[in-house]
Amino acid sequence: MDTNASQPRSAYDKAAEQGVDPRCIPQYLTGHTPVGSEIEAPRYTAEMHANWKVLFDRQKELLPGRAGEAFLQGIDLLEMTPDRIPLLRDLSSVMERETGWRVARIPGLLHEQDFFRLISERTFPSTDYIREAHELDYTPAPDCFHDMFGHMPMLTEPAVADFYHLFGRAALLARGAQRTALERLHWFTIEFGLIRESRGLRVFGAGIMSSSNELTHSLSDDVEVQPFSIEAVTAQEYEVWHVQPILFALEEFRQLVEDFTAWARSERLISDRVFV
Ligand SMILES: [Fe+2]
Repeated sequence: MDTNASQPRSAYDKAAEQGVDPRCIPQYLTGHTPVGSEIEAPRYTAEMHANWKVLFDRQKELLPGRAGEAFLQGIDLLEMTPDRIPLLRDLSSVMERETGWRVARIPGLLHEQDFFRLISERTFPSTDYIREAHELDYTPAPDCFHDMFGHMPMLTEPAVADFYHLFGRAALLARGAQRTALERLHWFTIEFGLIRESRGLRVFGAGIMSSSNELTHSLSDDVEVQPFSIEAVTAQEYEVWHVQPILFALEEFRQLVEDFTAWARSERLISDRVFV
């Protein structure tokens, strides 16, 4: 007799049966989501720390001449090292000290309303599991290397931190075409943003920072780099499944706050009292 026949199956079980990676299925948050010092330390195995080290060393070697100053400074502030996976609560306390952001530990990909709500509360949702050894070159869903190494350094930069907060607030109210515009803005800034610095074009987007392919490709001649503007970015389609042929470069991070605020006000997505 099959004793499991009457048991309710989770969305994860169904996804696994259908050959879909469960980590790619957005989830709603249920129950309490631990934030900052509430987040317990996971029991990482030596193999998990070793996977972090492979990823960290590979990316770190590619950073000189490619990563922006703010990103490099963020890695130092957060005291990320190759030898072990950092703890979310420690990263959260540094971010809180630098820019007032905190970290929430989440179980995987989130439904966008939950994601936007956390961002609108100046709280960055992060996983704490790491991809497996056979996924070091590519993983279909975010893991803690993407969330920690890719995203968190830039959340210690004040203008990026303020922009992302505004973005979350606007996203909660966005509808229809505004949603598409915001998705593109997120993609071409937070995930795949470039910035012009005195020594040349540099990377700050998390999607590039956590991928060795993207990091070498993004500053190559194969990429068409356009000046950042809200109009250009929101009009630009993108595809998730291959390296990016078109990217946008900021002149300075304050541009994100100023241009986005003006646009979001014109779309009635934020009020004049920005940080209420
Ligand atoms: Fe990301």
